[in-house]
Amino acid sequence: MSKLRTAVIGVGMIGNLHARIYSSSPRCELVAVCDADPARADTVAKATDSKAYSDPLEMLGNEQLDAVSIATPETIRIEPAFAAAERGIALLIEKPLGRSLDAVRHLVEGLEARNARAAINFILHAEPRYARMKQIVRAGEIGRTVSFFARRRGTRLGMQMYGPWTDLLSSTLIHDIEMVLAASGSYPERIFAEAVVRECAPFGSQDAVFATIRLADGAIAAFETSWVLPELQPEPLEPALHVVGDAGAVIIEGSSQGMRVLTKDSYRHPDMTHWPMLGEEVGGALRASIDSFVHSVATGAKPLVGLRAALAAEAAVDAIKRSIATGAPVSVDPELVTGAG
Ligand SMILES: NC(=O)c1ccc[n+]([C@@H]2O[C@H](COP(=O)([O-])OP(=O)(O)OC[C@H]3O[C@@H](n4cnc5c(N)ncnc54)[C@H](O)[C@@H]3O)[C@@H](O)[C@H]2O)c1
Repeated sequence: MSKLRTAVIGVGMIGNLHARIYSSSPRCELVAVCDADPARADTVAKATDSKAYSDPLEMLGNEQLDAVSIATPETIRIEPAFAAAERGIALLIEKPLGRSLDAVRHLVEGLEARNARAAINFILHAEPRYARMKQIVRAGEIGRTVSFFARRRGTRLGMQMYGPWTDLLSSTLIHDIEMVLAASGSYPERIFAEAVVRECAPFGSQDAVFATIRLADGAIAAFETSWVLPELQPEPLEPALHVVGDAGAVIIEGSSQGMRVLTKDSYRHPDMTHWPMLGEEVGGALRASIDSFVHSVATGAKPLVGLRAALAAEAAVDAIKRSIATGAPVSVDPELVTGAG
């Protein structure tokens, strides 16, 4: 079978990992990488034996590609995504899809109008525990779902890295919101949220948020998120997802999967879940998500997460923000949240 010709647009923290994964995949040839910062593009191109570009449209025009990852900041997605879709190139787009519900809707509708093949990189779907949880819940093994609890607490590193250009809900909690909606198979009807706004006040966003969602099937979901833990916190992220049904429960805790590493001067619970480095290789859910995308492009299989699921998650994030702003419960436009599939 011929290899898929792939490329990555935006090779910062996460795009660099996409590039490494494609370049080491036996099913792919990483043809090119592109970054607005030419030095960064050159470094990643050299490390992955690919060509460097600094203009996405030039790269898309010059190279014959089957698939491209878009891992730019979510403010810069529409132009490269539409240009790639118009050339028939399959897309793996990093979450979230944009900085506002209007922008995400424009992107989703524009890609649908172009008959794009698009997957959204919500990597929890490729994390074995979350994938299994979704399967168990959707199969009815714990009965009718009663409640969900999801937690995603980060350290101050997240606030420093992401606070200036995105926010806690869009960058972090959106993973859990999307996963809860996918596992429940239902959709949000009413949302209420409270926030702590201190250090993120200059960015117009939140340090911590608690949110509740009433789902249309009668279950309730509670979410807790923050990014203020000291960097001494042994796990880089402190996530959890608990699902209770009227005939059982599924409990997921942590991202170190029980591993603790002690040295003379440190104590860590390393990430063994999201993108652990195994020598030079990237492992974990990110690799599994990209492998799944490659498989879906090669075979025509449905992607793990499609455009409508990403739009539904964004509509829920938008409702949480509206509830924080108004101090009142808010409803969600059913048209935006019922097509997730
Ligand atoms: N799925 C996940 O688990 C996950 C994890 C981390 C980040 N992300 C998402 O990935 C996106 C990028 O995050 P990051 O942490 O890698 O950010 P980053 O700032 O490290 O990288 C973004 C890169 O995009 C480049 N860029 C900006 N504009 C460009 C343009 N017009 N053309 C080409 N390149 C351009 C920047 O120079 C930078 O190198 C964000 O939307 C973030 O939410 C997803």
